[in-house]
Amino acid sequence: MKDQINRRNFLASASVAALAATSTSARAAEAPGQGIVRILGVSCSPRKGMTTAKAVQAALDAAKSVDTRIQTELIDLGGLNIAPWSPQPPDDDMKTVLPKFRDPALGGLIIGTPCYFRSLSGLAKCFLERLAPLREPQMVLAGKPFGVVTVGAFRNGGQEMAIEQVQAILLCFGMIPVGGHAPAFQGATLLSTKDSIADDELGLKTAAQLGKHVGEVALRLEGKS
Ligand SMILES: Cc1cc2nc3c(=O)[nH]c(=O)nc-3n(C[C@H](O)[C@H](O)[C@H](O)COP(=O)(O)O)c2cc1C
Repeated sequence: MKDQINRRNFLASASVAALAATSTSARAAEAPGQGIVRILGVSCSPRKGMTTAKAVQAALDAAKSVDTRIQTELIDLGGLNIAPWSPQPPDDDMKTVLPKFRDPALGGLIIGTPCYFRSLSGLAKCFLERLAPLREPQMVLAGKPFGVVTVGAFRNGGQEMAIEQVQAILLCFGMIPVGGHAPAFQGATLLSTKDSIADDELGLKTAAQLGKHVGEVALRLEGKS
């Protein structure tokens, strides 16, 4: 009896070891591109290539530096026509943007918004509303991490409130809010002076610390670290 139990235990642990070996070799044999974790950054300023886009890019660069399997892409909504949600889906630029969020390799998001009246921009709100098709019939974004980048022209200009507003929206998608490593606990908060963030050393550090954390969490949740 004792021998039988030992034999059973041995067989059980041997099959666990075999399974582990199979999954390791399966991972090693992944087809090119399958090990990729893509982080999408979205700049929700109507002004293309301005401070919000630059701050999101800084966060994406930091996310990419975490691991060679991380790929990043900036989607700059500046100049695009994106209407709010309506019962008749509007025929606008969202049709080229939305498919990127269905990418099976999508591991996380970094959403950037300028502070407008201590809140997120109208463009950010329209864009986030138009992600609604990603909630039904399937919660496509559920369980994926996201971080928020905000830029204002004033110190204490409402950056943290804008972050909370974006977080409240993406919680409706089942996404996981991620802050940055210190000192970016809530997210990236930048100060624009004369339309530039280049001198905002602390703000740029928060963008990097946020991007790094989003990259790390995305890898972990995809089971790749
Ligand atoms: C309509 C409007 C409202 C704004 N409200 C605020 C605000 O409440 N707090 C703040 O810090 N900056 C405010 N700003 C300044 C912008 O947040 C700041 O210039 C930001 O860098 C713009 O981002 P962009 O360069 O990507 O367009 C406001 C700008 C506009 C156009």
